[in-house]
Amino acid sequence: MNDICFSYHDTCGISFSELSRIASLKNIETERLRLQESLQPSCDYKTVYASVQLPFDDDLLARVQSVIQQKEKLSVRVLLVIGIGGSSLGARAVLQAIQGRIVVPGKSGTLRIYFAETVDSDRMHTLLSICEQELLDGRNILVNVVTKSGTTIETIANFYVVLALLKRYRPVEYAQLVVVTTDAGSPLADYAQKENFTLLEIPKLVGGRYSVFSAVGLFPLGVVGIDLGQLRAGAAHMVQCCLDPALEKNPALMGALIHYYHYRHGIMMSDMFLFSVDLEGVGKWYRQLLAESIGKEFDTEGKQVLVGITPTVSLGSIDLHSVAQLSLGGPRDKYTTFVTVQKSKHTIVIPEESFACKGKAFSEVMDALVEGTKRAYLKNGRPFCSIVLSEKNEWSIGQFLQLKMMETIYLGFLLDINPFDQPNVELYKREAQKILGS
Ligand code: PA5
Repeated sequence: MNDICFSYHDTCGISFSELSRIASLKNIETERLRLQESLQPSCDYKTVYASVQLPFDDDLLARVQSVIQQKEKLSVRVLLVIGIGGSSLGARAVLQAIQGRIVVPGKSGTLRIYFAETVDSDRMHTLLSICEQELLDGRNILVNVVTKSGTTIETIANFYVVLALLKRYRPVEYAQLVVVTTDAGSPLADYAQKENFTLLEIPKLVGGRYSVFSAVGLFPLGVVGIDLGQLRAGAAHMVQCCLDPALEKNPALMGALIHYYHYRHGIMMSDMFLFSVDLEGVGKWYRQLLAESIGKEFDTEGKQVLVGITPTVSLGSIDLHSVAQLSLGGPRDKYTTFVTVQKSKHTIVIPEESFACKGKAFSEVMDALVEGTKRAYLKNGRPFCSIVLSEKNEWSIGQFLQLKMMETIYLGFLLDINPFDQPNVELYKREAQKILGS
């Protein structure tokens, strides 16, 4: 299996010696050591770095797999995942990147996976119609409700609507069609126990946006046939790379230092420019990770700092035709991460009759577009780095997500903020609950 390749030399706008200087000035080694320490069995999900333990937790995998096996017996053709933010974006990203679609081959015919995120009446109407048809046709559906807090308004609302449908059509056996993924002791966990729903717990100190390798991501992904072993192996391998004390060999440290340097020099935006349509979900997952982890009002000492890097997601080559003018000619306020995939699953060749690019494979044309874009960025002095995935498979995607999570943790340390909380998200939730009187 090939590793993902991260390159920044001569393009990121800062020399390696300057990055090393910042690394020692900020004493980033202390954070690396803390992360390393958190992998000790004695730490067992007891530190804020708990998420890095997930790819090594074989008990977690065994528990998820046993629930998958149990639910496979129900011969479902529709999996409905109800969750939002960190409780849906990770699974969505991996699924789209690897399968590229929502209809996948399942053990009993094709299996469709749907996500219910916000409270959108029209979207929910469509989902309810799909589920109802399955139930009317005598088939089962599987509902996975995912909410760490067990209280998120949108998720609870969607869940109760779907549960009512299940109770109407399967008044006796509805409980076995529900899997609840939540924190131990959350209001939803209590309800799950009362109703006898299968419960998958999220370790307390694993935050939503860092939870893709917990049951939050593993359960739905396993149901639709993603190779969880390879996904976790890629992530576990990347944890080790991101703990390497040698700066030049540690992609998370390097990535964090480059972001930090640019931020301190007035570059407030980070654009993830993905040259593969299937990677759009990965971009959206990262957008949440960077925005929620780094956008903070106060530093770790409680001083108001109003820190934040605005993440944007661009899709190559589509967005070259919409934002390239701004990126190349507008203000120098962006640092770009180009993400490309070395090997496509399919080969398509342009016919000889074409008056452009005749006989060339799509991959050759895409490579030229990527290279041309990078040259233009270089010529215009726009800083960037490049990440190349060998393929869109479990191993590469596992590595990529883990890399970005560890890079974000290091970046939080460099900026003296807590990358694990989201007090202002909690604020909007509380205010909305007040309005709703719940
Ligand atoms: O990363 C986070 O913590 C948030 O984005 C949450 O994932 C999101 O608000 C959903 O919360 P919950 O999983 O509690 O329903």
